[in-house]
Amino acid sequence: MPKRKKARKPSLRGRDFLSMLDFTGSEIWDVFRTAKSVKDHPERFRTRLRSKHLAMMFEKPSLRTRVSFEVGMRELGGDALYLAPSDINLGKRESVYDVAKNLERMVHGIMIRTFDHDICVDLAKFASIPVVNGLTDLEHPCQVLSDLFTIWETKRDVRSVKICFVGDGNNVAHSLLLGAARLGLRLMIASPRAYQPKASVVNSAFEEGGRSGAALEVTEDVERAVRDADFVYTDVWTSMGQEGEAEQRRNAFRPYQVNSALFSLAKPDACFMHCLPAHRGEEVTDDVIDSPNSIVFRQAENRLHVQKAVLTVVMR
Ligand code: CP
Ligand code: NVA
Repeated sequence: MPKRKKARKPSLRGRDFLSMLDFTGSEIWDVFRTAKSVKDHPERFRTRLRSKHLAMMFEKPSLRTRVSFEVGMRELGGDALYLAPSDINLGKRESVYDVAKNLERMVHGIMIRTFDHDICVDLAKFASIPVVNGLTDLEHPCQVLSDLFTIWETKRDVRSVKICFVGDGNNVAHSLLLGAARLGLRLMIASPRAYQPKASVVNSAFEEGGRSGAALEVTEDVERAVRDADFVYTDVWTSMGQEGEAEQRRNAFRPYQVNSALFSLAKPDACFMHCLPAHRGEEVTDDVIDSPNSIVFRQAENRLHVQKAVLTVVMR
């Protein structure tokens, strides 16, 4: 991690977090330092968001995101409100603009999980309070911020490790590409040709990676991606909202299953990562996800600490 600078930096207060590109590399390192303090000394943060409220709007199911934000707000001295898809019916019962204008008068921040990323962008544009992306079809930045923190916690010299992501070029893959680009990391993504990350995201990542010194590659060659990797990351083949394509996807992704044969190509001490929920027997086999090399539940736990750090800095 770069040394802490003495000069006062602009604060993240009031900022939205919709994409990994919304924070600079140095802001991400600042969040990691805060997250480390939150994790090691939670008692120091007990009143940081006293009397503050976070509205959480969910248009898709969730376990980790809901629980980590809700518990996180309470542990910071504030509170969180769970708003189910049927409560809001965003854009149908009420426009995104009207929802933003109501919520900004009652709460101090909004977390949203939705399908179309543009809804998240519009909400942030209309609301005067910080908006945090809790997953869209395009990105899952809270997940990846926590995952990069987990990688840093595991191997301090993050710029020298090889990270690979195997499977669907989805929201998690997009945020990983952009996060690796911001921090100057080595990342290979291996996906079948028809399921590679969106060209616009790859182009932005390559552009940013050129500035940060990242080594990024997108390939179909899964064995080359996993060989000698320090971290092997996968996610479901069928994301929320794609259930109708499940059968077709199962066929396309079969060679990309992280099983013990594929995982054995990575370094002997390689870590297995998954954002969860996992579809065991599809993208990962039990012997890999349940092995001592698996850090999936630490990843899940770190959602709590890292998001508390984000809320602390944007909602204060
Ligand atoms: N990883 C993750 O976001 O999990 P949930 O969908 O359960 O929130
Ligand atoms: N790619 C998955 C991530 C779930 C946390 C999905 O969007 O369903």
